[in-house]
Amino acid sequence: MRQLCYDDPVPTHSKRGKFITFEGLDGSGKSTQLEKLAGALRAEGSTVVVTREPGGTPLAEKIRGILLDSATRSLAPMAELTLMFAARAQHIREVIEPALEAGKLVLCDRFTDSTEAYQGGGRELGSKIVLELHRIVCGDLQPDVTILMDSDVAASVARARRRNQASESAENKSSDENRFERESRAFFTRVRDSYLAIARREPRRVALVDARGTIAETHERVMQAVRKKLKG
Ligand SMILES: Nc1ncnc2c1ncn2[C@@H]1O[C@H](COP(=O)(O)OP(=O)(O)OP(=O)(O)O)[C@@H](O)[C@H]1O
Ligand SMILES: [Mg+2]
Repeated sequence: MRQLCYDDPVPTHSKRGKFITFEGLDGSGKSTQLEKLAGALRAEGSTVVVTREPGGTPLAEKIRGILLDSATRSLAPMAELTLMFAARAQHIREVIEPALEAGKLVLCDRFTDSTEAYQGGGRELGSKIVLELHRIVCGDLQPDVTILMDSDVAASVARARRRNQASESAENKSSDENRFERESRAFFTRVRDSYLAIARREPRRVALVDARGTIAETHERVMQAVRKKLKG
């Protein structure tokens, strides 16, 4: 049997990919901007994987169904928190890690910052438990760049509600992802404050992008922020 030589080709991709996440309130424009960024990066020749949380794998999408459906009632905050991480564990193993190992660019719509903002801040479970669970479940996996889409609470939630109403009538109510959008203004204010605290705590990773402009203006800001962070 032939011995492996040191200069045999390494089976894994030599250069690890980059992990870019989009964060922000419901309706702040994350999915819109993520798709536009993916298009721009693909046009430059990058191999891009687009995914989302909660979800991104068949099992995690089932958990998403439970978490976002407004028919889900009286879900204990701790159950909500741990279901988010259950979906994330599956997503990391099946999608995120393999893509990063293969040297791809992974664009993910929401990640652990959402859990810190919504369950830690919105549900008032606090950041500590979220960060602790992240360490246990996700190890040291951190995004290389996080785009935090900053916008006003009322305007964002109104946009998300309009979009959901439009898609419900178009899809004949086949999916309902309204559970969080029914929360109060005070809830979303806590979510936004938590996001801003994360941006202050981790300025190297998190780029705060003003999301109040047009789609084209915001896309320009996102492109600039991504280039700057990836260069850094
Ligand atoms: N800059 C913008 N100006 C006006 N409308 C926008 C802008 N960006 C997105 N929209 C519209 O607002 C709605 C919400 O945008 P989008 O779905 O991208 O937000 P999101 O942050 O992904 O929301 P969610 O967290 O609920 O998934 C969509 O109908 C989208 O077309
Ligand atoms: Mg979205």
